[in-house]
Amino acid sequence: MKTFQVDENGYYGRFGGAYVPEILYRCVKNLQDNYLTVMQSEAFRREFDQLLRDYVGRPSPLYFARRLSERYGCRIYLKREDLNHTGAHKINNTIGQILIAQQMGKTRIIAETGAGQHGVATATVCALKNMRCIVYMGKTDVERQHTNVQKMKMLGAEVRPVTSGNMTLKDATNEAIRDWCCHPTDTHYIIGSTVGPHPYPDMVARLQSVISEEIRKQLQQQECRDYPDYLIACVGGGSNAAGTIYHYIDDRRVKIVLAEAGGKGVDSGLSAATIHLGEEGIIHGARTLVMQNEDGQIEEPYSISAGLDYPGIGPVHANLAAQKRATVLAVDDDEALYAAFELTRLEGIIPALESAHALGALPKMHFKPEDVVVLTVSGRGDKDIETYIKQMKNDENISL
Ligand SMILES: Cc1ncc(COP(=O)(O)O)c(C=O)c1O
Repeated sequence: MKTFQVDENGYYGRFGGAYVPEILYRCVKNLQDNYLTVMQSEAFRREFDQLLRDYVGRPSPLYFARRLSERYGCRIYLKREDLNHTGAHKINNTIGQILIAQQMGKTRIIAETGAGQHGVATATVCALKNMRCIVYMGKTDVERQHTNVQKMKMLGAEVRPVTSGNMTLKDATNEAIRDWCCHPTDTHYIIGSTVGPHPYPDMVARLQSVISEEIRKQLQQQECRDYPDYLIACVGGGSNAAGTIYHYIDDRRVKIVLAEAGGKGVDSGLSAATIHLGEEGIIHGARTLVMQNEDGQIEEPYSISAGLDYPGIGPVHANLAAQKRATVLAVDDDEALYAAFELTRLEGIIPALESAHALGALPKMHFKPEDVVVLTVSGRGDKDIETYIKQMKNDENISL
């Protein structure tokens, strides 16, 4: 049977691989050779599971959203990653990677961040493990997600604002890779999504796969069957989506819906809908879909949501889209904002702007009443509260 999982060379179909500068070859190869051994060791499993349970607060609930279900005429469950310690799914990955880094004798941690959730999650595990932590963040994002910047500093991390390009996630990633090239031996780069050279997409997907592992058990208890009809998640680089679909990726009974950031509209020139707009190319060490111009120069992406504002996409998702295994919908800024208020007013849950894109996919779908839909709420909306307040000021009577 055809599998959508990674092959032994780090490829998903024709996407993936490891395209790294000479200086990083040894440390990337070292990680490739060791990540599975470390992750499958008894000591890793024990500490990872224990931290996910006692520190992160897992399993995260699978909540039946009654009023949202009534609105969309199906049975909607929300996978509540917003309830994790630090407020998003990102911590599942950083806990795993800090344990791997420790095991591999690394003493210095670097990370990139967009919305700041991955930066906070990295700073958190570095505090926990007493490791030096440097986080690269585009200056635009430093401004729009400033509470997360303060949190990272309080946790003891150094936040380095990046002023190249449009000063968002791509630029922060470029800068982190530059740092890594200067410190290849003592530094582990905790990449925050299913992007980067092999083994990162597979390593991050495995660490996030706890999400679908739990969905299976929770659905069995609540619906007496262990699979849904639909899985819906937003995609920036793709890690919450990869975790949501991991155990269902080869199960054709389950339809996969990915929501990417349409920005001001896919054809507006202000968008981050990489799967809709991208062409095959290489970004940050992997062959994938990339928003680029005719000369292969990367186009600046745009989204209201800092965590989805990225011109690439994980190779796993590029392959799912190419093979038509996933339906990819572009959700515009306005649609995401509407969806965020809708969830807040119907269920009393304020989602992160990124997660609001997954919710914004709901009105674009046609469900049957018996359809079981699992939608991952990847994070909570605290960091986006200023954007939401601005929206309320512009539209006093937000009518839903
Ligand atoms: C809450 C939240 N959801 C989703 C994302 C997008 O990342 P990914 O596609 O890797 O899940 C981010 C990124 O910062 C985020 O903070």
